[in-house]
Amino acid sequence: MPRFDEIRLDQAEFRLLRELINEHCGILFGMEARPVIERRLRDRLAALGLHSFGEYYQLLRFDERGRAELDEAVDLVTINETYFFREAYQLRAYKEEILPVLRGAPAPRERLSVWSAGCSTGEEVYSIAIATRESGLFQGKTVRVFGSDISRRCVAAARRGVYGHSAFRAMPTEMRRRYFSEKPDGAHIADELRAVCQFGHVNLLDVPRSSVVGRVDVIFCRNVLIYFDDVSRRRVIDMFYDRLLPGGYLLLGHSESLLNISTAFELVHLREDLVYRKPVTSISRFWSTGDIPRREASRSAAPSEPASTSRPPTGPLIPPPAPSSPVGPSSSSSPLPPAAAHHASPASPHPASPHPASSASSASSASPAPSPPVGPPVLPFDPGSRPPRGTR
Ligand SMILES: C[S@@+](CC[C@H](N)C(=O)[O-])C[C@H]1O[C@@H](n2cnc3c(N)ncnc32)[C@H](O)[C@@H]1O
Repeated sequence: MPRFDEIRLDQAEFRLLRELINEHCGILFGMEARPVIERRLRDRLAALGLHSFGEYYQLLRFDERGRAELDEAVDLVTINETYFFREAYQLRAYKEEILPVLRGAPAPRERLSVWSAGCSTGEEVYSIAIATRESGLFQGKTVRVFGSDISRRCVAAARRGVYGHSAFRAMPTEMRRRYFSEKPDGAHIADELRAVCQFGHVNLLDVPRSSVVGRVDVIFCRNVLIYFDDVSRRRVIDMFYDRLLPGGYLLLGHSESLLNISTAFELVHLREDLVYRKPVTSISRFWSTGDIPRREASRSAAPSEPASTSRPPTGPLIPPPAPSSPVGPSSSSSPLPPAAAHHASPASPHPASPHPASSASSASSASPAPSPPVGPPVLPFDPGSRPPRGTR
C-alpha cells in the first residue's frame, strides 16, 4: 500500500479528472497541469481514505458524495488570484464612460445592477462598488453589486470582507483609508459599501442557476473564461447575453475577447478600453418565450439602432422591486497554467482583435437603453449568508 504522499496521478487518471472538471465548470487544464493537480488533490484522497486517483475519480463520478466532493476538488484547483482595482483602466472606463451613459438621457437608469461573475474573494465587487460611489452618478438610487463564484471558500471570504496587505497592492492608500477600517485581523470593508454588495455561489455553466442573478446593466467577467474551453465560453457568453438588459455592458479581462465566441454583442470603443454591449433593441431569450417576433433570435451582430419604443411584455417572471439601498458620491492561491493559453484558442488582446462581426460604436454617442419594467436582480442567499442591510 503506497503512502499518501507517494500516490501518483497517472496520465489516464489525469485525463479522466480533467474531463470531469471541464464538464462541471468549463475549466480545461493542459497536460502540464498534472503535477499541480496531483499535489492539490492528494490531500482529498487522504481525507477520504482512498488509495488511488482512480478510486477518487470513481467516487466523484458515481458515488452519492461525488457532487459535494466535486465542489471541494474544484475549490482546490481553481485560480483565485485577485486584488482591489485590478485592471484599473477598466474601472475608470466603467466609472467615467459607462455609468454616465447608463445615467444619461433619454432613459436614465433609476437603479443600477452590476454582476461580477467569478469574483473570487470579492475584491472586484468592492472595487466596482467604490467606483460607482465615487462617480456620484447613482447617489440616492438603488445600486446592487452582485458577486458570484464557484468556490464556496471564496464566496465566504468575499462576504466577510476582511483583507490583508496584498489585496491592496493596486489601490491608492488614500482610498484604502476612506473605505476600510484597520483591525488586528485585517482591513474591514466599510458598512456602506458592504450594504450594496451581495454574494452567491454560482457555477457559470449552470445556466438555470445563473438566472437567479436577475437582469443586470453591467457584467464584469474578468480572468475567468481564459481558463475555459471554447464550447463552455460560448455557453457562458450566451447566458450573459440573456442576463443583460438591452444596452447593458459586458466587460472582460484585458486579454479576453469574444472573437470566435459570439457575434451577438456590439463592440464599443471607449477611451481606455474596448467593451461589449448588448444591442439596445435586442429582445432577450428571457423575453421571447411568447409570440414576440424573433428578430434578435438569430444572434447576429446587430448594428446599433435607435432605441426602440416597444417594450417586452411584463410577466410573472419579473421579480417585484426590492427596497433600495442608496449610495452617495463621494489571497490568492498560486496559479495553475491555464490550458486555454496552450490548447484552446486563446482570447486575443482587445486592441489587436476588435470583433470583426460586431458593430463598433462609442459609448458617449450611444443611446442608452430604455429601462425595461423590471425589478432589481434577485440573488437568493446561500444558507448562512446574511441579507444586505437595505432589505432587513
Ligand atoms: C482568477 S479569478 C478572477 C477574479 C476576478 N474576476 C479578477 O479578475 O480579479 C477566477 C475566478 O473564477 C472562478 N471560476 C472558475 N470557474 C468558474 C465557474 N464555472 N463558475 C463560477 N466561477 C468560476 C474561480 O473560482 C476564481 O475565483
